[in-house]
Amino acid sequence: MSDVNRQWLLKARPTGMIGPEHFELVESAMPRPDFEAGQVLVKTLMLSFDPAMRGWVMDEPSYLPPVPLGEPMRASGVGQVVQSSNPALPVGTLVQGLVNWQEYSIGDPRHPLAPPTPLPAGTPPGMALSIFGSTSLTAYFGLLDVGQPQPGETVLVSGAAGATGSVVAQIARLKGARVVGIAGGADKCQWLREACKVDEVIDYKREDLPARIAQLCPEGVNVFFDNVGGDTLEAALANMADFGRIVLCGAIAGYNDETPRPGPRNLMNVVTRRLRMQGFIVIDYLARANEAVAALAEWVAAGELAWREDVQEGFENIPATLQRLFDGRNQGKQLLKLADPE
Ligand SMILES: NC(=O)c1ccc[n+]([C@@H]2O[C@H](COP(=O)([O-])OP(=O)(O)OC[C@H]3O[C@@H](n4cnc5c(N)ncnc54)[C@H](OP(=O)(O)O)[C@@H]3O)[C@@H](O)[C@H]2O)c1
Repeated sequence: MSDVNRQWLLKARPTGMIGPEHFELVESAMPRPDFEAGQVLVKTLMLSFDPAMRGWVMDEPSYLPPVPLGEPMRASGVGQVVQSSNPALPVGTLVQGLVNWQEYSIGDPRHPLAPPTPLPAGTPPGMALSIFGSTSLTAYFGLLDVGQPQPGETVLVSGAAGATGSVVAQIARLKGARVVGIAGGADKCQWLREACKVDEVIDYKREDLPARIAQLCPEGVNVFFDNVGGDTLEAALANMADFGRIVLCGAIAGYNDETPRPGPRNLMNVVTRRLRMQGFIVIDYLARANEAVAALAEWVAAGELAWREDVQEGFENIPATLQRLFDGRNQGKQLLKLADPE
């Protein structure tokens, strides 16, 4: 094994679109785990890319501390234990956790947020990070706990062809709701209709979004699951049914804005239509992860859930891969493979 660890460090905090220029590729010394404390050395196999990473590089208070300048970019992923004296994590174990943008990391079982967690036997890294990963947990708890759709209700989902949105749309269908998905482009809309069996689809890049929501949801939207924010949220607010629920999952349309965009102009609809609008962060549900994974596994085994993995390759392509989330090039869960398990 080489004694060099390649890393992508955060070099500068972006003010607009995040890109490779905000990171620096360096070669560092191989990290040395504290074996007596149960730490292990983990080789990164696959990285997960998440829109939240755009927020993690900002020096602003949030639900996680900012990534310090000069440190490897924070990222979750799957790796394989290559050095260990910890019987719970022997050499060869595939683990999930915060591996960051680097070839090797220290897996610390006492990490407060993301200790290295063995993958269930037989689960490939891509599946662990996509259909059984945090975006699916986000979909499950955000929709069912926060949105609480009832059979026969209309559920509108933005970012519906993405990793989170596509699972939201399908769980809503499985729970007996009528589902309207919003996505960008003909290919994504066709996949939603045919593979995800979504009732109606709106291509927001081609269609008049507020008018199409009104047309497809004549009784109003009972649950709006929002991944996008901005104009999309405003269009949904104009079409909510009385006592509707708006699940604020994300607002990707504004993540790379240089200045904050104005809020929706029609927030007063929350009052007149007696709406509930609630944000949530999936980490608050991690103690219940097994519940979601069990339900997802059942739906997957029954052939009820479709998902797509968009797997890029190459250590040098890591920062550019993050950008794919923000221009919609990703077709499903954005991943990057660095190595196969041994
Ligand atoms: N609250 C939580 O705990 C939590 C956890 C995970 C994710 N999230 C949020 O969930 C959302 C989806 O995340 P994901 O990981 O599943 O990513 P994703 O949906 O797989 O990928 C991002 C998608 O967002 C859409 N998008 C990008 N820029 C846009 C813009 N300016 N306007 C409209 N749509 C745009 C693109 O789809 P189109 O091609 O269709 O435009 C793109 O494919 C994000 O807002 C993320 O922050 C929240």
